[in-house]
Amino acid sequence: MKKKTYRFSSAPVEVYFDANLRQLGQLVDRKKAIIITDENIFSAHQPKFKNWNVITLKPGEEYKIQQTVDTIITQLIGFEADRQSVLIGVGGGVITDLTGYVASIYMRGIRFGFVPTSLLAMVDASIGGKNGIDVGEYKNMVGIIRQPSFLFYDTTLLQSLPNKEWSNGFAEIIKHACILDRPMFKILEGTSLGKLQQKKSQLNDLIKRNVQLKSGVVKKDEWEQGDRKLLNFGHTLGHALETQYDLTHGQAVALGMVFAGWLSEKLLGYKDLSRLEQTIQAYGLPTRAAFEVEKVFNVLKMDKKRVSKTMNYVLLARTGKGVIVPIPVDELKGYLTEFNALK
Ligand SMILES: NC(=O)c1ccc[n+]([C@@H]2O[C@H](COP(=O)([O-])OP(=O)(O)OC[C@H]3O[C@@H](n4cnc5c(N)ncnc54)[C@H](O)[C@@H]3O)[C@@H](O)[C@H]2O)c1
Ligand SMILES: [Zn+2]
Repeated sequence: MKKKTYRFSSAPVEVYFDANLRQLGQLVDRKKAIIITDENIFSAHQPKFKNWNVITLKPGEEYKIQQTVDTIITQLIGFEADRQSVLIGVGGGVITDLTGYVASIYMRGIRFGFVPTSLLAMVDASIGGKNGIDVGEYKNMVGIIRQPSFLFYDTTLLQSLPNKEWSNGFAEIIKHACILDRPMFKILEGTSLGKLQQKKSQLNDLIKRNVQLKSGVVKKDEWEQGDRKLLNFGHTLGHALETQYDLTHGQAVALGMVFAGWLSEKLLGYKDLSRLEQTIQAYGLPTRAAFEVEKVFNVLKMDKKRVSKTMNYVLLARTGKGVIVPIPVDELKGYLTEFNALK
């Protein structure tokens, strides 16, 4: 187990790499800890939860809601959790978002940490301190920015992760490479999902590098005033597609990255669109899908990144260099139409 401390303005986060869930007792007192996890993770790794207080939730985004928060709070009261208690979210992004949120409001805030179990949670959701829940169709509508006390990485947990969840994680890893890290893009294009699943040490290095990348961005811009916006690469069109079609988050973001890459070629002379598409495919993700422009545009124009009639779009000046380009909303519709007509 190796420890690294990331200092954010509000609090330090201790990050443990190369750890095993069985070592969690070295970090927190079992009597004071309550683990929050979901049924999939609990059933795949049951022995590792032995002798811990555990709250097991139903899996899925549809449970990232207030009603689940109430259920958790009722169970915490049942466990007689107090201000000295520590909540530990062992799970994907749904569990980490929920755990951070509940820990931030229970008795006006108690300590919490995460053991991310999905690749997406390892490289993205557990980092940065954003916690919260969905309200109706509005994702992450309610929440708080508060850093966990610790992040604990046990990558052996990934052995039970379904393939489509691996691809979701890689969509974010490819995103990080595109906006911030050209050498990592080269590593990714030199290998593939299947190969990395076999090469544990290379995968571990990649996870660490992504933790470093996202933490670095968050540290510089904890309250999302500037650089943190780059992390939305692929997500503007991605979110709009995800709400209108039956796509996973990774699939939608992949399509969003291809559109942003195409637009970068057109507006900024970005040269690596075909490399981007090949890399996306190597991780089980799609690069093209026809959509109804009108329908998608109506959602897209309501995006949080819109300021009046202009959208702050994340494009690539080159691989490894994301930039924010203001694009008039009307022009964006024209670009979407043109892109959608391509074969
Ligand atoms: N807070 C942030 O900054 C941030 C950033 C990105 C995403 N998110 C949130 O994260 C969520 C998505 O995260 P996710 O993709 O991890 O979703 P998730 O938590 O729903 O996990 C995906 C699926 O994989 C299963 N799973 C997770 N780990 C497993 C394992 N080791 N073995 C077997 N099954 C496992 C889960 O049970 C679930 O069915 C969304 O709610 C999103 O809003 C938050
Ligand atoms: Zn994402």
